[in-house]
Amino acid sequence: MSRRPFVAGNWKMNKGPNEADALARALKAALANQSAVDVAVAPTYVALPAVTSRLKHSGIHVAAQDIHPSVSGAFTGAIGGEMVRQLGCTYTLVGHSERRSLWNEDDALINSKVHAAFRSGLLPIICIGETLSQRDGNQVEQVLGAQLAKGLEGLEADQVASLTLAYEPVWAIGTGRTASPEQAQDTHQFIRRWLSVNFPDFVSKAVRIQYGGSVKPGNAAALMAKPDVDGALVGGAALQADSFAAIVLAAVP
Ligand code: 13P
Repeated sequence: MSRRPFVAGNWKMNKGPNEADALARALKAALANQSAVDVAVAPTYVALPAVTSRLKHSGIHVAAQDIHPSVSGAFTGAIGGEMVRQLGCTYTLVGHSERRSLWNEDDALINSKVHAAFRSGLLPIICIGETLSQRDGNQVEQVLGAQLAKGLEGLEADQVASLTLAYEPVWAIGTGRTASPEQAQDTHQFIRRWLSVNFPDFVSKAVRIQYGGSVKPGNAAALMAKPDVDGALVGGAALQADSFAAIVLAAVP
């Protein structure tokens, strides 16, 4: 079974509404003729109205960068899944390594956000990945296995089949240091094998696993040519239309 490539851009805390609208407009033009790759962008919350409205009917999906586990309530400064869904988001990132490290998010909280995403009609893109010391200490499989077991707890097989995993080694994020295509493939293969052990067969065949961490136009094709690398989650290179569009086109089978 072949999986449709999926490339997403995480704009992080960059681009307010005006700049985000300009980038969305440029992407819409640059990607108007491609339909072989699923594409999503994740702007800041305040730019979501501009970007969802700009990208309506463009085929480019919009993702939130995070959601709160609750629908509503006394959670000052937080945003619920239903709120971003109403704006036209179809995806949300969950468990990005910056949320894990800077906001101390643990796997239990991430799991509650994954459930909240499904309740709100959003498809989660769940980020997992090891630190450099964990890789050097040969703990990659143990770390990823625990993130998967806890992050996916309580989900139905159909839900797991529909979500996206983003393997983002922490040491490769924003560092210019990318996992080699072989390292990415080995780790993605481990993730898919983990899924096949823990869920019915159709799940591991369907789940798309993106690679993230210093993906650029120059390295994207080699990474995504690997059989278990189904796309990319792009940070810095997603902030310019030409480089992000080049990465999307590198994913065309
Ligand atoms: P960079 O592509 O800037 O390394 O960021 C990756 C990332 O964190 C995407 O979520």
